[in-house]
Amino acid sequence: MKSKNLRRAIKKLPTISVSLLNCDLANLKNIVKKLESLDINVLHLDIMDGSFVPNLTFGPPLIKCLRKYTKCFFDVHLMIEQPQKSVQQYINAGAELVVFHYEALDEQKIQNLIFKIKNNNIFCGISIKPKTEVPKIYPYLKYLDLVLVMTVEPGFGGQKILTECVSKIKLLDEYRKKEKLQFLISADGGINENNIREIIKLGCDLPVVGNAIFSVKNFGQKVKIFQSLTKIQKFNSKVK
Ligand code: DX5
Ligand code: ZN
Repeated sequence: MKSKNLRRAIKKLPTISVSLLNCDLANLKNIVKKLESLDINVLHLDIMDGSFVPNLTFGPPLIKCLRKYTKCFFDVHLMIEQPQKSVQQYINAGAELVVFHYEALDEQKIQNLIFKIKNNNIFCGISIKPKTEVPKIYPYLKYLDLVLVMTVEPGFGGQKILTECVSKIKLLDEYRKKEKLQFLISADGGINENNIREIIKLGCDLPVVGNAIFSVKNFGQKVKIFQSLTKIQKFNSKVK
């Protein structure tokens, strides 16, 4: 890990973390190279086990293969039961940030898992599903590098954003200011050109965008639109 601070490791914030879930996985290497050439530096890798969520994706071997082709930062979102059992494999494969779900393991095991991840010099985040209230994770925030707010039920790309989840971003932002904490706020699911500025304005540093980029043929053009939207927001928040 080059930096101990996730904000410094990712450098330009806010920025998008591009979810590869809905891209043409048979063409993954070329897609990642194209994203990198467009100045994308964070990739969001969605790991699903068919149990925690009703869908299956990929695992450590794919992350390991991809690691050879890109310098992008790997934001690994584990939607798996009992993540403490296999987390080391994702770390060994090249994850730089491991985000596990609050709902995926017993509460008394959460702190140990955070320490296990961080002892590997890897950044650690916790994600909360739409029905989980923010205060549940307050005890862990001082140890965490990131909180991932799910703005859809995890499992599938291309869903409509659940607007009732968006206020969690503001709540987390207020809490980190009040407690002088460093964790970043990410949000995942249903983020598009129409809502990304509002999401950032509420305090989100790292919005995850998947389907809105890969549902069109020329995804490069979409990437540029999202990049300009995050920059405009940065400018606006500076003048405030
Ligand atoms: C959903 C995944 C998301 C998803 C992103 O369970 O965690 O990362 O790909 O959502 P969309 O596709 O709506 O941008
Ligand atoms: Zn995700």
